[in-house]
Amino acid sequence: MDSFVIQGGRPLRGTFRVHGSKNAALPLMAAALLTDQPVVLRDVPQLSDIRNLVGLLGTLGCEAEHDAAERRLTLKVTDQSQCVAAYDIVRTMRAGICVLGPLLARRGRAKVSMPGGCAIGDRPVDLHLRGLRALGAEIHLENGYIAAEGKLRGAHVFLGGPNGSTVLGTDNVMCAAVLAEGTTIIECAACEPEVEDLANMLNSMGARISGAGTPRITIEGVEELGGTPEGGHQVIPDRIEAGTYAIASAITGGEVTLENFPTASLTAALDCLRQIGVTVESLSGSKNGIAPPLRDDVRVRRIDGLHPAQIVTQPHPGFPTDLQAQFMALLAMAEGNSIITEKIYPDRFLHVAELTRMGAELIRTGASVMVCGQKQLVGAPVMASDLRASAALVLAGLAARGRTVVNRVYHLDRGYERMELSLQALGAQIERVDQKDAE
Ligand code: EPU
Repeated sequence: MDSFVIQGGRPLRGTFRVHGSKNAALPLMAAALLTDQPVVLRDVPQLSDIRNLVGLLGTLGCEAEHDAAERRLTLKVTDQSQCVAAYDIVRTMRAGICVLGPLLARRGRAKVSMPGGCAIGDRPVDLHLRGLRALGAEIHLENGYIAAEGKLRGAHVFLGGPNGSTVLGTDNVMCAAVLAEGTTIIECAACEPEVEDLANMLNSMGARISGAGTPRITIEGVEELGGTPEGGHQVIPDRIEAGTYAIASAITGGEVTLENFPTASLTAALDCLRQIGVTVESLSGSKNGIAPPLRDDVRVRRIDGLHPAQIVTQPHPGFPTDLQAQFMALLAMAEGNSIITEKIYPDRFLHVAELTRMGAELIRTGASVMVCGQKQLVGAPVMASDLRASAALVLAGLAARGRTVVNRVYHLDRGYERMELSLQALGAQIERVDQKDAE
C-alpha cells in the first residue's frame, strides 16, 4: 500500500491544468451501453475508478480502447448477451450502479449488484429504483442483486429524497427514459453539471432531452441512439479537483494558475473562498455577459490572513459536499471560528479525527463541526479513509509544520490523477512511498 510523505510549509507556485471530471466521465461511459455504435470520450482522467468501470463494461460486452496520450476512450458494444454487473466489481466502486438504467433500457433486463454503504455513510438506491419502477420496470432484490426487467414507457417521475435529489439516480432514469416509449418528465432532478454533461452527450447521439441542469428534465423517447459525433465528446473539467487545487494554493499562501477551471460550476465554493480572503482572478479577460465561463484560466492566491466562514453543503448549485473536507482543512488555519454543516451525507466527517491529530481544533455536534481557527497545523502520521477526506489530509500536510505521512492513498488515486506529481510540479515536497518505508 502506498503512502504520501509530505514536508509542509512550502508555498505552491506554477500552473496546473484541471483534468476531465471523474464524476462526469463515469456515467458517460455507462451510457455507451445504450448503443451499438462507438462512443468516444475525450479528456478522460486516468484514475482507478475509470479503470474499474472499463473492467465492468468489458464483462457486459462493451469493449474499450484507451489512447492514454490523447486521453481518449473509445467504447463499443459488441455483445449484448450479458446483463449481470457482478458484486466483485461493483463493490470497488459505487458508480457501478450507473449501468442499471442503460442495461435495462437497451437489453430489457439487468442484474446489478446492490452497492454497499461506504465510508461517507449510508448510500441507499431507493430513488433509482423508484424512478425505474415509475417507467414500468419490474424490480426485485435477489441475493444482494437488483434484478430489473420490463418494457419501459414514459412517465412522470419524482426523484426528491430526504437529502435532495440524487445525481446518479437522475442519470439512471434519464438514460432509461431516452429509449422508453413516450415522454418522461423527471421532477426534482439533480441539477449537477455532470447530469447536464450526460444529457448533452446523449442529445448529440440522437436523444431528445431538455431541461438538464434544472430540477425538471423532459425526455422524449427515441427508437435508438447512434454513436458520438465525429471528434467525440469532451468531458467537462473536474470541479472538485479544481476546487482542491485552488485550496492548495490558498492554504500554502502560494500563487497558482489553474487552467481549464470550471468557474461556472463552482459559484458557491468561489463565493466562500472570497469570504475567506482568497482571490480567484480570471486571466482570460473575457467578460462576455454576466454568466461565468465553463472553462477559464484563473490565478488563485490569498491576500493576507484567512477569515472564518459558515458553510452548509447542499445540492448544486449550493456548496458541494465533495469539497467540505478540503475547506475544513483551510478553515482550521483561519483567524476565528467557522461552522461547517453537512446536509448531503450527515456522517461524512472521518477527516475530523485525523485533522485533529494534526493540531486542528474541531468540535463536532451531529452534522455540524465548529472549526476553531488560528491554528498552526503540525505534521503527523494520518490515515486516509475516503477520497475527499484524503485530499483534505494532503492539503493540511502541505500547510503543516514538519512531516506528514498520509497512509492508504489508494483512496486518492480513485479521484486525483497522480496528485503527488502535480503537487511536486508546483513546488511541494511530497513523495509516494511504500507504506512500510514511510514509518
Ligand atoms: N440518496 C437517497 N436515495 C437514493 C440515492 C441517494 O436517499 O436512492 C441520498 C444519499 O444518501 C445522499 C443524497 O441522496 O444523502 C445524494 O446522493 P446522490 O445519489 O446524489 O449521490 P451519488 O449520485 O451516489 C454522486 C457523486 C458523489 C457526490 C454525490 C453528491 C459520482 C460517481 N458520485 O454520488 O461523489 O458526493 O453525487 O453530490 O458522481 C466523490 O466524488 O467523492 C463522491 C462521493
